[in-house]
Amino acid sequence: MSVDAETVEIDPAECSADLVAVGMFEDEAIPTLATGAPGSRDASGKKGSAVVLYPSEDRRVVVVGLGRREDFGVEEARVAGATSQEALVGVNGGSLAFVLPDEGPAPRVAAALVEGAILSSFDFDHFREGEGRLEKIEILAPVDDETDSAIRFSRVCSNAANRARHLQSLPANFATPEFLADRAREIAGAHPAVEVEVLDREQIIAAGMGGLAAVSSGGREVEPRLITLKYTGRGSGEVLGLIGKSVTFDTGGISIKPSADMHEMKMDMSGGAAVLEAVAAIAELELELDLIAVLPATENVPSGTALKPGDVITQLNGKTVEVTNTDAEGRLILADALVHCARQGADRLVDIATLTGAVLVGLGSTYAALISDDDDLAAEVTAAAEETGELVWRLPLHEEYFELTKGEITDLVNASPQRKAGTIYAGSFLEQFTEGRPWAHLDIAGTAWGTGRAYWGKGPTGFGTRLLVELARRQAS
Ligand code: BES
Ligand code: MN
Ligand code: ZN
Repeated sequence: MSVDAETVEIDPAECSADLVAVGMFEDEAIPTLATGAPGSRDASGKKGSAVVLYPSEDRRVVVVGLGRREDFGVEEARVAGATSQEALVGVNGGSLAFVLPDEGPAPRVAAALVEGAILSSFDFDHFREGEGRLEKIEILAPVDDETDSAIRFSRVCSNAANRARHLQSLPANFATPEFLADRAREIAGAHPAVEVEVLDREQIIAAGMGGLAAVSSGGREVEPRLITLKYTGRGSGEVLGLIGKSVTFDTGGISIKPSADMHEMKMDMSGGAAVLEAVAAIAELELELDLIAVLPATENVPSGTALKPGDVITQLNGKTVEVTNTDAEGRLILADALVHCARQGADRLVDIATLTGAVLVGLGSTYAALISDDDDLAAEVTAAAEETGELVWRLPLHEEYFELTKGEITDLVNASPQRKAGTIYAGSFLEQFTEGRPWAHLDIAGTAWGTGRAYWGKGPTGFGTRLLVELARRQAS
């Protein structure tokens, strides 16, 4: 499942990989590796194009179009990595080598090729035989430390993102809260710097996590879990808090969703999956920082014991909430998780959640929404996002949005009767639970699944996994 990647200092003509990918810019010459091969004139350099050629009996080359040289950057390299990997699938190969394009910063371009190839090789083959089998990537370039460590970083992050995508894809009868807890225990077992704590329903209730208790009250067979992971990579300094929405299935509860696309709500734990696998990657990379990750994990299902519209609950910080819509469940469990994360010692909070359908309307599948009460943290998250290509766009907070979240009989209501600024409303709600810590919220309901981007395809994206590791890396350095 995990793909290997390294730099190898050999002549591309001597490379024994199943497929050697070489880039070609638009309106430029055919790369020497391919010149003279039958059909080489079909290679165009057009962005997204790929022509497989056989310069000799035992060698296979794919000429990948990189578009115009002046437009070429890291994202284009990611796409080229993906295109090459698709070509590898086409020839049924397992090992892929890249000739580094002579454009852009070598370490970053090399890392992006690796990312694009690994990410595009994701195939959810849990319930049928798989199609791709990318096992090994070689970057054909002079070995140097900077390129080596960039490749290692992107390899670890991309494999982690693929594991998050696997979790996203697993249906609710497999990826239960306890299943996520088991994965957390597995991560802690593999890395001495990681500790795990898992609370069950009774403990969640006893702790005063009224939001998580309420949302999980409908499901009596599938038990909720509050999963906390602590990573000590430094032992001092600022503690980063990561919180991931982990609703393993969202029916809407008593405010039930229409049945048409309801099956898609198995991915309502995408934020938790990203956090979980980001922590695994951070531990694998031994990044020098401390962090606390919290996953509130539950189903949101209707039953005789379920939370009802109009019910009033008390969150972990004592604030009361009238639950006017049981389908606005994410904010209720995140509220407790934010407070818990802060109280466990996090100095800054970043939550990630498939929180609102409204973000799809506003930003589609290209940008996730970023909402933050702290300009420095928002800038850091944005910079990390630009680095990894998991794009975010900041939405505003304002007193008037906060007004909308105020209750008549309680401190807050979880959904407004007015259909105004749904994504910001949810953000304003969450802001009441940050315990005064700098906080950033990522709404990934539009980007977690079905973006259609070259290296993500139609399915799960693992959105946020690489971004969170990059954020941690920035804090560590
Ligand atoms: N999990 C959904 C949001 C969602 C929508 C995720 C589409 C992925 C794709 C969330 O719990 C939800 O149901 N939100 C409601 C909130 C509303 C009732 C205020 C929504 O956005 O419709
Ligand atoms: Mn919902
Ligand atoms: Zn939900």
